[in-house]
Amino acid sequence: MAAELPQTQFTALVTGANSGLGFAIACRLITEFLETRPLSETLILIVTTRSTRKSDDTVSRLQLHVDRTVRKSRGQSSEKERPYEYARIKLKSEIVDLTSIISVQQLAQRLQESAHKIDTLILNAGIGGWTGVNWLNAVWTVSTDWVHATTWPTMKIAGKGWLAKPQLAGQADGKATTSSEQRQAPGQEDVELPLGEVFTANVFGHYLLAHYTMPLLSTTAANGISGKIIWISSIEAHARALNLDDFQALDSHEAYESSKRVTDILALTYGMPATRPWVSQFTSTVNDSSEPKNTSPPKMYVTHPGVCGTAIFPLPYLLNFLMTLTFYVSRWLGSPWHTCDPYLGATAAVWIALTPQSQLDATEERDGIGKWGVATDRLGNERVAKTEVEGWGWGGRVGEPKRKGRKRGVQDLTEEQREGFVELGRDVWRRMEEMRNEWEEKLPPARWGLKL
Ligand SMILES: NC(=O)c1ccc[n+]([C@@H]2O[C@H](COP(=O)([O-])OP(=O)(O)OC[C@H]3O[C@@H](n4cnc5c(N)ncnc54)[C@H](OP(=O)(O)O)[C@@H]3O)[C@@H](O)[C@H]2O)c1
Repeated sequence: MAAELPQTQFTALVTGANSGLGFAIACRLITEFLETRPLSETLILIVTTRSTRKSDDTVSRLQLHVDRTVRKSRGQSSEKERPYEYARIKLKSEIVDLTSIISVQQLAQRLQESAHKIDTLILNAGIGGWTGVNWLNAVWTVSTDWVHATTWPTMKIAGKGWLAKPQLAGQADGKATTSSEQRQAPGQEDVELPLGEVFTANVFGHYLLAHYTMPLLSTTAANGISGKIIWISSIEAHARALNLDDFQALDSHEAYESSKRVTDILALTYGMPATRPWVSQFTSTVNDSSEPKNTSPPKMYVTHPGVCGTAIFPLPYLLNFLMTLTFYVSRWLGSPWHTCDPYLGATAAVWIALTPQSQLDATEERDGIGKWGVATDRLGNERVAKTEVEGWGWGGRVGEPKRKGRKRGVQDLTEEQREGFVELGRDVWRRMEEMRNEWEEKLPPARWGLKL
């Protein structure tokens, strides 16, 4: 008998889905969707990678995951016998290089043409910009202060001043390139507008993608349910790393940490009156007839995966294995943040993606707006855990109860710090919108037919 057609669709897009956390988020979304959503719902999962080969490989590995999940939950039935469950997951892939503005614009154009509403946009892809390990520091800090040294490490050696490839020259096809091709001197055209590679891969490319997909993320007010933008930050989003005079951290060895601090600030101050002038430009959409639409903009959340073993730190296989082993030891020593396995690290992002909006709203109403991390116990039982953000606390409330897993030396939130954080939010949103406008003058999105 032919499979009945499912009635409703839930569309999720995950960037950087070919490895590490991104692949784990895609797998976990599939599992939890099949386990928790009604049989009448279909998941359209769009994964992005940087090449056709990676896309094909990712989709076939995800298909295997679908097979395994369906077989596990429904007995050993084959696709032929259980067509309905298989039909509930539709996998699609797209190619994008987030350090290429043209590539981002072209992806958004393809998404707009496909006319899918996007329910959740998971901004996962990222690079660390690290080149190696200070082994002396590693041995000393890990042996004297194991958990802290593996949670907030100081042994990483980072590059400095890495620039994204030139945006205007030789990029008309918007094709993705590899990281190693990009660390060249900027093209003449970009001299006045340098784009840091780490900043653009982690923040600015995603920011533009979210802006260009706004018509798909925003819904008419009558519907009442808008999309979700979910950022992947890090527990290493140190306040000290962000210097507004060096916004892209080009003159810093903490470009990664700075990009994650910007991520936290963007998400946590998204709904504030202080940032509204810029946020409303970022979320604005206009329909075909250039009339403003009656839409409700998407919600924005920030999550982090704890600490897990992935390819983000460039280490040979054996050292990577040893690194992951030190993470497990940290967990056994009582660290709440060592998720170790990316599948556990995916918990918070997937929880935000699949939890009904009303429930998330109620949680934020009760506990304040915060950063959602993943914690585990010694046995690796994962849970979603609010994480302290410097200058904001756990929920932006002075005097709120303290939780486990604090970074050493972080002060309890004061009213002045909270005000300073809101001020920072205003500055960061203004900078991001200024950058977007500057780049759109050079690379107008309208030439790809993008509707905004
Ligand atoms: N691992 C952790 O413990 C940890 C902790 C905190 C936060 N995170 C965050 O988790 C996210 C995923 O990292 P991961 O640990 O899973 O590392 P990963 O395994 O190296 O995955 C990174 C992904 O991002 C993609 N990517 C990198 N640069 C890109 C670009 N310019 N355009 C498009 N895609 C790009 C990579 O594609 P290629 O394969 O083509 O390079 C890959 O798919 C990052 O945002 C990271 O900051 C990870």
